[in-house]
Amino acid sequence: EKGGYPHFMIKEIMDQPACMMDCMRGRINVEASNIVLSAIIDNKDKLLSARRFIIVACGTSWHAGLIGKHLIESFCRIPVEVEYASEFRYRNPVVSEDDVVIAISQSGETADTLAAVELAKQKGAFIYGICNAIGASIPRATHTGSYIHVGPEIGVASTKAFTGQVAVLTMLALTLAREKGTIDEDTFRTVLKEFSRIPEQMQQVLALNDKIAELSKIFTYAHNFIYLGRGYSYPVALEGALKLKEISYIHAEGYPAAEMKHGPIALIDAEMPVVVLATKNRLYEKVLSNVQEIKARKGRVIALITEGDTVMPGIADFCIELPDLPECLTPLISTLPLQLLAYHIAVCKGLDVDQPRNLAKSVTVE
Ligand code: M6R
Repeated sequence: EKGGYPHFMIKEIMDQPACMMDCMRGRINVEASNIVLSAIIDNKDKLLSARRFIIVACGTSWHAGLIGKHLIESFCRIPVEVEYASEFRYRNPVVSEDDVVIAISQSGETADTLAAVELAKQKGAFIYGICNAIGASIPRATHTGSYIHVGPEIGVASTKAFTGQVAVLTMLALTLAREKGTIDEDTFRTVLKEFSRIPEQMQQVLALNDKIAELSKIFTYAHNFIYLGRGYSYPVALEGALKLKEISYIHAEGYPAAEMKHGPIALIDAEMPVVVLATKNRLYEKVLSNVQEIKARKGRVIALITEGDTVMPGIADFCIELPDLPECLTPLISTLPLQLLAYHIAVCKGLDVDQPRNLAKSVTVE
């Protein structure tokens, strides 16, 4: 059942290229330059007339929601709020018939997310679910939705569900943007074509597994880790930190890279590993100067870079090269080395990665 792997988590990490294909199957057509998400076609008017979107979720699904916000705001020019379901449900939030609520949940059973859905429904919002477990409580409670179709996720640390959620949010944003006329045809085509190649790009990144396993041995000493990223990479930093916390029991925090100088930089010393999402994009130079600031304080930098970057390898302690992609698609790729890093550090520490202490796969009680 683990497909020859020692743990479900590594199987599920390695399955991601195939899961992506399952998620895209029947939905994208690169030649015709088309995306078909039936939930969008069936509810086009409702979605396009929304005053705003509110994404409700917990944990890793909440991180996917943050990427969804960036995608939907950039491409569709619709305002999006991302809420922890647990906070939303107890705040008597301002929600009305003009709002669309997107509930993201792998299990479809998370108590807080389900309660947030019920509350928003009572207030008249239209509810769109992005779930994995078919027929679970949340998909049953929503008005419509899209399954991520990545297959059952067994490992407590969510991996393939995250990339599946981000993939569905990407298709949703692109489809709505085209319907709304807020994306030009060239951008749509380019992003769709690159999106269709994500499974092969993932394969290329997963080939770094041995290298990341070696790297992980160096960091089992750590009691703290910092993860930094900006833009689309900021939620990836949060997700990388959560994976490490959950299974290796190393305290880790993700920050938007520019927030460093507002506090966290005080933590940097020669003991502190800092994982930096530093792929080439509009903000690369700014992230580069963050890395210089960390090195000036002797922090140990692991940088995720775009292949061909010749500058960062001269500054960072370790570099992991990723394929060049449109910025909006980088989370689908850059998350993988962080999943592998967390996995291998936990394995090196002799921990039970599939059943980490104190955690349940689905949080069905508050
Ligand atoms: O099933 P859900 O997506 O609703 O679960 C939400 C969180 O409980 C879940 O993502 C949790 O944070 C994972 N353990 C993360 O790896």
